[in-house]
Amino acid sequence: MVFNRYSNYYDSFYAEKDYAAECDFVELIFDKFTDQSIKGILDLGCGTGGHTVLLAQRGYQLSGVDLSESMLSIARSKAKELSLTIDYHLQDMRQLHLEQTFDAAVSMFAVMGYQTSNYDLEQAIQGVRQHLSPGGLFIFDGWFGPAVLSERPVERTKIIETDAGRIIRHARPELDVVNHVVKVFYNVLHLQGHTLIDEIDEVHTMRFFFYQEIEYFLEKNGFELLKISPFMELDRAIAVDDWNMTVICRRV
Ligand SMILES: C[S@@+](CC[C@H](N)C(=O)[O-])C[C@H]1O[C@@H](n2cnc3c(N)ncnc32)[C@H](O)[C@@H]1O
Repeated sequence: MVFNRYSNYYDSFYAEKDYAAECDFVELIFDKFTDQSIKGILDLGCGTGGHTVLLAQRGYQLSGVDLSESMLSIARSKAKELSLTIDYHLQDMRQLHLEQTFDAAVSMFAVMGYQTSNYDLEQAIQGVRQHLSPGGLFIFDGWFGPAVLSERPVERTKIIETDAGRIIRHARPELDVVNHVVKVFYNVLHLQGHTLIDEIDEVHTMRFFFYQEIEYFLEKNGFELLKISPFMELDRAIAVDDWNMTVICRRV
C-alpha cells in the first residue's frame, strides 16, 4: 500500500509545489477548450486536497476521490479548517461508483501513472467517462515516455527542515522499459536532532506514456483527445525533453 505513513510527510515534500498556478492552468484550459459552463469538478487521486480546496475557494463544487484514507484525512481537515464543503470519497478510481456526474474531471500530479497496466488504465478512463456529462473535459498530467527514456530517472535525495525536525527522502529509481514503468524505492527518515523518530520504505511504481497510446486508450474508451502539451504550457508542442505533460480530452 502506497501513500500510507508516507502521507504524513507529503505536504512537506511538496511544499514548493504551486497549486494555485496549477489551478490557474486548469481554469485556462476550461476557457480555451470548452464553451460549457463548469460548476462540478471531480478530482481523481485528490491526495491531501491541494487542488480541491483551491478550486472550491474559487467557487466550483468539488468532489475528491482517493484510495488512501490517510491522504484523504489531511484533505478533509484542510476543507474543514477553511469551512469549505467538499465531498471526499475513499474509492479506487479503477472501480469508481459515485451517484453523480460532473462538468469536468481532473487528475493531477501523475495519478494516472499509478494505473500501471493497460487494464487498470482502461478501467480508470471508463470510470471517469461514466462520471462526466457529455462534452465534459478530463485533464490529467503524467510522465512523457520519450523524456523518461532519453533523460533517464536518477537517484535523488531531498532534505527538508520542518518545525518537527529534519526529513530526508532518498529515491532510487529502477527503469523497466518492457512495462513502461519506473519503480521508485523511497526511503524516508525523520530525525529530531540526532534521534531517528520514524523511517518509512515505500515503492511507487509509475507508468510513463507515449502519445499514440494515450490517444488510443482515450478514443477506445469514449474520449476525444484535444491536446497533449508540456505541463503548464499550452502554447508549445511537446518535445522529447518534456518529462511532464498535460493531457486534455473530452467525453464524446
Ligand atoms: C502524487 S499523489 C497526487 C495527489 C494530488 N492530486 C496532488 O496533486 O497533490 C497521487 C495520489 O493518487 C492516489 N491514487 C493513486 N492511484 C489511485 C487510484 N487507483 N484510485 C484513487 N486514488 C489513487 C494516491 O493515493 C495519491 O494520493
